[in-house]
Amino acid sequence: MNILQINASARSAGANSTRVADAIVARLKERHPDARVSVRDLARDPHPILDEAALAALFTPADKRTPEQAARAALDDALIAQLFAADVVVLGVPMYNFGVPVQLKAWIDAVSRAGATFRYTENGPEGLVKGKTVYVALARGGVYRDGPADSQVPYLKTVLGFLGMTEVSFIYAEGFAMGAIGAEKALAAADAQILDLVA
Ligand SMILES: Cc1cc2nc3c(=O)[nH]c(=O)nc-3n(C[C@H](O)[C@H](O)[C@H](O)COP(=O)(O)O)c2cc1C
Repeated sequence: MNILQINASARSAGANSTRVADAIVARLKERHPDARVSVRDLARDPHPILDEAALAALFTPADKRTPEQAARAALDDALIAQLFAADVVVLGVPMYNFGVPVQLKAWIDAVSRAGATFRYTENGPEGLVKGKTVYVALARGGVYRDGPADSQVPYLKTVLGFLGMTEVSFIYAEGFAMGAIGAEKALAAADAQILDLVA
């Protein structure tokens, strides 16, 4: 079993979302001691954003790309290959200004590629990243679970589902900005959800 852990916090150390993602991976490892774990820390190793040069590279046929364009496309190719190689994907996702961190958006932009991870058919779009189990560790300062201000969960369900990842579980660690007790409760609640999910 291959586990891919993506840490999306802007903090490479001390991040709550990474702590919860680590706890999920630790539970999975207990159940599957032979599992191999790859970690992509987007704070330490950020992926470049989808800017004009990146779009030009991606929309140029591979055999016509400049060396710079080939290098840029190869960065996305590597993330796509890493995703396809995973059986289980664990995302550590903080809430920043009611959305996902820009680092995670850059990762999503990289792995969302027509003809590779999804395609359009006569029946509509088809996700090609199938058979994955996905766990999303959500860390928040406040409490937004199931409320109208939580745009993260609908967004992630939509985009991951579009790519074919339909088996997605969300682990909520909420209230980190609500004092020491809030943070303790957030971690305890996350641990209980992990126990339930990775049973
Ligand atoms: C730039 C920034 C924006 C934030 N925006 C929100 C927010 O919109 N809602 C919220 O509940 N918490 C917000 N927080 C609090 C974080 O979600 C919380 O501290 C979380 O633990 C951060 O995860 P991390 O430690 O993995 O980076 C924000 C924190 C930062 C640094």
